[in-house]
Amino acid sequence: MKVSAPAKINLHLSVGTRRSDGYHEVLSVMQAVSVYDTLSLSATESGFALDVSGDAPEDESNLVVRATRAMWGTLGRTPGVAIALEKTIPVAAGLAGGSADAAATLVGLNRLWDAGLSRKALEKIGASIGSDVPFCVRGGTAIARGRGEVLSPLPVRKPLWWVIAVPDATLSTPEVFAQYPGGMIIEPLELVNALAQGDVDAAGAALHNDLADAGIGMVPSIGSLCERLRAAGAVAAVMSGSGPSVAALCRDETHASQVLERVDAPFAAVASSIDHGPRIT
Ligand code: C5P
Repeated sequence: MKVSAPAKINLHLSVGTRRSDGYHEVLSVMQAVSVYDTLSLSATESGFALDVSGDAPEDESNLVVRATRAMWGTLGRTPGVAIALEKTIPVAAGLAGGSADAAATLVGLNRLWDAGLSRKALEKIGASIGSDVPFCVRGGTAIARGRGEVLSPLPVRKPLWWVIAVPDATLSTPEVFAQYPGGMIIEPLELVNALAQGDVDAAGAALHNDLADAGIGMVPSIGSLCERLRAAGAVAAVMSGSGPSVAALCRDETHASQVLERVDAPFAAVASSIDHGPRIT
């Protein structure tokens, strides 16, 4: 069984204060995009095996391992599985690559083992793995609150087209959050209206990330990459999540391909918003 694991970007990320559990209160608009890792799952007699092609660990730090353990814990039994993971989503880039793989593992194992868990139940298990995993289970476009796990879907009138680019650097999410002094949560009202109306210019004007200054302070090439994408014709460009990836909004697929041609970065790809999460093929 193959399962696709779409990356996410943040169109809006507002970060409040640090809570007593160490997490920050956030208000984020997340969107699943057409950059995918692929997982192949096969039932085995017993145990767990993970084979990774690409740039990601094969040990316990891989969220695929944690997702499998969490499913075993929920089911109260330990069916065997071998998982092959093909990485395309850049790691430690703010694109939720690890969370997307965990979400695809939950969705895939639910089917492989005939567990019959609802999407809500999978989202709940996802929250025990990481703050972005519930969104990655659900996909589409959503407002995320709390530490990122409280989701409300958002209507998007027409698909958005992006160039997603990553400079030659990685960033640690806890380190970026630690650099952020804390602030007020901002409601993304203009962005929500722009998405509902399919107004690309208004959406571009409303892109926002409270962690951008912290990220650019740690990796200055994020700032220059945003400038190069704007100079290449993008409507707007913003750091995604805790960086260092950048999402550059374009008018349509042709425009995104033109912007891509004009920008040189270690990773750069055209992507569209998608209205779903992991899919079994
Ligand atoms: O939930 P997850 O394990 O992905 O979070 C990684 C780290 O990012 C947390 O340990 C925390 O330092 C930071 N974080 C945060 N507030 C959030 C989400 C993540 O401070 N809402």
